[in-house]
Amino acid sequence: MNAVANSKVYIAKRLEVGLDPSNMPNHIAVIMDGNGRWAKKQGFMTRVRGHEVGVEALRRITTACAELGLGYLTVYAFSTENWNRPKAEVDGLMNILMNALEKELPVLQKNNVRLNAIGNIDSLPAKANKKLISVINATSSNDGLTLTLALSYGSQDEMVQAIRKVAKQVAAGDLSPESITEEHIEQHLFTAGMPHPDLLVRTSGEQRISNYLLWQLAYAEFYFTPVLWPDFDAEGLYEAIATFQKRERRFGQTSEQLTVK
Ligand code: IPE
Ligand code: IPE
Ligand code: MG
Repeated sequence: MNAVANSKVYIAKRLEVGLDPSNMPNHIAVIMDGNGRWAKKQGFMTRVRGHEVGVEALRRITTACAELGLGYLTVYAFSTENWNRPKAEVDGLMNILMNALEKELPVLQKNNVRLNAIGNIDSLPAKANKKLISVINATSSNDGLTLTLALSYGSQDEMVQAIRKVAKQVAAGDLSPESITEEHIEQHLFTAGMPHPDLLVRTSGEQRISNYLLWQLAYAEFYFTPVLWPDFDAEGLYEAIATFQKRERRFGQTSEQLTVK
């Protein structure tokens, strides 16, 4: 399908689900939370079952974002702090990652999704890291939605790494401290080249950002839902976007300034 035909399909889908097609978030960031509580609620012996079912929710949401013609979906899959969980859970999560990468590749291809990752992916088990890179490469020419997995990701760690790189340029005499700009920080973040999220969704009722995209969320709208991640579906996503569409993003200006055309 060519770009014009594609955009007609996206607009039809946006209208079909009751959204304003001209006021869509280009980039949605998600904190996929509540897998452990979901497993407990369902009576499963292990939290890992919640993570397994969480993969299905991610497939649903990725497909829904692709159908709406969004540009970017960035999901928090594993934080730097999550390494401190019991070994059995960490091992379970890494296995789920491996299996999901294997199984989901055809789905990504079908939906024209490009996979990307942010975080210290070198600290993942070698097999998972290799698989991740192979799926990133296999989907690199897809030009629909970019799905970014935040893996072994922590925003403070990301900023420390960026600042170190800028400091090296200063130490080498290539940059003066006075000439450091926001762009210098920006270009050394894992997210370099990506637009900032417009909307942050966190499931499971927690209202915090848990070291996620602290820099990039500067002007994002926040949406919290009590729904646990394994239960989150396309309807929930549409509701989050509908809420976003009712907000007035002022970026520091006054409401009056925004309405003056
Ligand atoms: C989110 O679900 C997934 C990861 C952090 C990997 P949790 O595992 O945090 O589930 P809850 O918050 O304990 O219910
Ligand atoms: C944030 O959830 C990380 C992911 C969803 C991957 P956590 O469950 O780890 O966050 P806290 O500990 O409740 O803040
Ligand atoms: Mg949690």
